[in-house]
Amino acid sequence: MTPSFDPDAFFARSMLTVTIAELDDDQRWSTWPETAHTMDRGPQPFPDWVVQHDGAIDTELGILKTGKEADAFLLERALPEELLTGAAGEETLLVAKRFRSPEHSSFHRSHEYTEGRRGKDSREARAMAKGTAFGKQVAAAQWARTEFDVLGRLWSAGLPVPYPVQIVGTEVCMEFIGTDDEQGAVAAPRLQETSPDPEQVERWARALREVVLGLSELGLVHGDLSPYNILIDSRQADPSPVIIDVPQVIDLIANPHGPQFLRRDCENVCAWLRGHGAPASAADPAEWFTASMGGWEAP
Ligand SMILES: Nc1ncnc2c1ncn2[C@@H]1O[C@H](COP(=O)(O)OP(=O)(O)OP(=O)(O)O)[C@@H](O)[C@H]1O
Ligand SMILES: [Mg+2]
Repeated sequence: MTPSFDPDAFFARSMLTVTIAELDDDQRWSTWPETAHTMDRGPQPFPDWVVQHDGAIDTELGILKTGKEADAFLLERALPEELLTGAAGEETLLVAKRFRSPEHSSFHRSHEYTEGRRGKDSREARAMAKGTAFGKQVAAAQWARTEFDVLGRLWSAGLPVPYPVQIVGTEVCMEFIGTDDEQGAVAAPRLQETSPDPEQVERWARALREVVLGLSELGLVHGDLSPYNILIDSRQADPSPVIIDVPQVIDLIANPHGPQFLRRDCENVCAWLRGHGAPASAADPAEWFTASMGGWEAP
């Protein structure tokens, strides 16, 4: 076998030696190589925009939002400028959602959400129950893991969610939903912040009904679906809803509260849609609920 020249590895290594002293405080080496285990990377085939080069650098561009359980940061993952050729997979924007240990969060709800979920490692379960530092770290990592796995499942089922790129510990990196042009990066607005015209709100109502039904076909309920956890993606000509914030996803059937959470999700979303001009026929929470439960035995 003749050894072959691998230009990627060559450039990555030479960049390592050239740039190592030049990383700024808001930069790190791309953590993609830390995720060699396929469980820690998003569904395959990877979209072509995913940056897989070892020599790429992550630059923190700012915080998008501090939330109840996690903070969302905007990251650029890119090869150093001098190596950019304009090909796909050399530079991209990502959202890094970093879960905090649950002492500062509303995780007291978590018991209700996770009932019916498969049992966890018992040492970890005991540590969480005791609220030890290790337990808190484990809990944050588990919420990150659930967010990552659920995003992957929904993405693979064709539902509109950000593509989950990778997970490292308590940090999930996902596709940035938003635009990036001369004015810079602008995150997609939450549904809550939009003022759609009647035609548009009816289209969104139909799309969101499909999402709720699609989740229920997978046996899942979002559990926190509201106009704050729906982004309006305007990257295509016809802006459409994208669902985010899924770590509390509930098992529709195994969780005894599943149907109750489903009803609440339907009511929250339909109330907003109707309040913004959607016809009652397109945003009828009872109809969404019944259609979602349709494939399952009555509880
Ligand atoms: N993939 C993404 N693309 C663009 N913006 C995003 C993305 N993910 C999250 N955001 C922004 O960050 C905010 C917080 O994200 P998310 O809802 O997942 O976190 P959270 O900690 O659960 O927040 P909250 O407690 O407010 O519900 C979102 O409302 C949205 O504005
Ligand atoms: Mg949220």
